[in-house]
Amino acid sequence: MGTITESNIDIDFSSDTSTPPPGLDLNPEHLEFGRVVAPLWFRSWYREGAWDAGKVEKWNPIELHPAALVLHYAQSIFEGLKAYKAPDGSALLFRPGMNARRMMHSAARMAMPPFPEHAFVEAIRTLVDCQRKWIPDAPGSLYIRPTMIGTEACIGVRASHEYLFYIIVLPSGSYFPGLPPGKTGTVKVLVSETVGRAARGGTGDAKASANYSVTLEVIEAAKKKGCAQVMFLDSSGHRTVEEMGGMNVFFLRGDTLITPPLTGTLLAGITRDSILKLAPALGIAVKEEIIPFDDLIAHVKSGQVREAFACGTAAVITGIESFFLEGGGSVRVADGQVGPVTHRLFDALRSIQYGVSKDPFGWVVKV
Ligand code: PLP
Ligand code: COI
Repeated sequence: MGTITESNIDIDFSSDTSTPPPGLDLNPEHLEFGRVVAPLWFRSWYREGAWDAGKVEKWNPIELHPAALVLHYAQSIFEGLKAYKAPDGSALLFRPGMNARRMMHSAARMAMPPFPEHAFVEAIRTLVDCQRKWIPDAPGSLYIRPTMIGTEACIGVRASHEYLFYIIVLPSGSYFPGLPPGKTGTVKVLVSETVGRAARGGTGDAKASANYSVTLEVIEAAKKKGCAQVMFLDSSGHRTVEEMGGMNVFFLRGDTLITPPLTGTLLAGITRDSILKLAPALGIAVKEEIIPFDDLIAHVKSGQVREAFACGTAAVITGIESFFLEGGGSVRVADGQVGPVTHRLFDALRSIQYGVSKDPFGWVVKV
């Protein structure tokens, strides 16, 4: 058992929950993303206007009233971050304060109570400390999923007065089946030219569960075409590039890395922000700019766009092999392989996350 930092979180766990059972395969090469959930969670209830101090304990399936607001009106938000095992065996979190602040932003948008930043980070530190033996060796990681749901039983359309905030942790390898963890590869991407993900004034910049349900139909259609992700365009019909269903997107046009600006309809990715800071430190120019989709395709065809990649906590940095169009046909990015700039950024980011190289930005938090 690791050292628990000073906090008022109640902790109740035993060796059968802190240590993976013998025979459970935590080899990151074999782990399917999102499938294995470690036995402990952190949970806190919001009742009568306040969060309780929270508890780390063995989770059980959640009992919900059939009229619980989350089940009817999707009052549900979540976050995603990871704990990485450093060469000295310690556990490292990557910019958890940013997840805390983004969750507070999501909560405000969905009329939910904020879970304070300090309590959020402390809950993650405590849970990861209790589950540190569940962190797979590099290139694996422990995916951390904070979640908040409105639990009050009432089918009137209004905000819940009662909430459950919980955090589960999942030993993980690669997000994309078929791409080995620790290396970046390329995936095919379907461009959703008709189905929108987020409208102006909607919830695109919140990590609201509802943003994901509206993408499932097109994600399933993409899979049938052999595409691992979907890229969305703005839904006001201007046909500008926004983001993927679960990650942001960058393009190397000439020698400049470009990505769409945060217009309120896409998620402010922590990986995106990190790349915008890391790239200049590596001598790579970056620019946030509106990217008309037709120009993008023309520039990919002419070779001006030399690399494209998706980025996010789960996906890390994953190259884009080609864009499939809804009307049929596809356009390959360069030779369809991971380009050198994508490689450099992937290596630089992961070295910081795993504590292999210096962290000049002060991003990493040791547990
Ligand atoms: N965009 C969407 C819709 C996402 O779900 C995610 C993943 O969390 C991202 C972007 C990337 O965000 P981050 O880098 O913080 O994981
Ligand atoms: C993440 O990268 O953490 C995400 O939340 C994306 C996806 C798994 C939904």
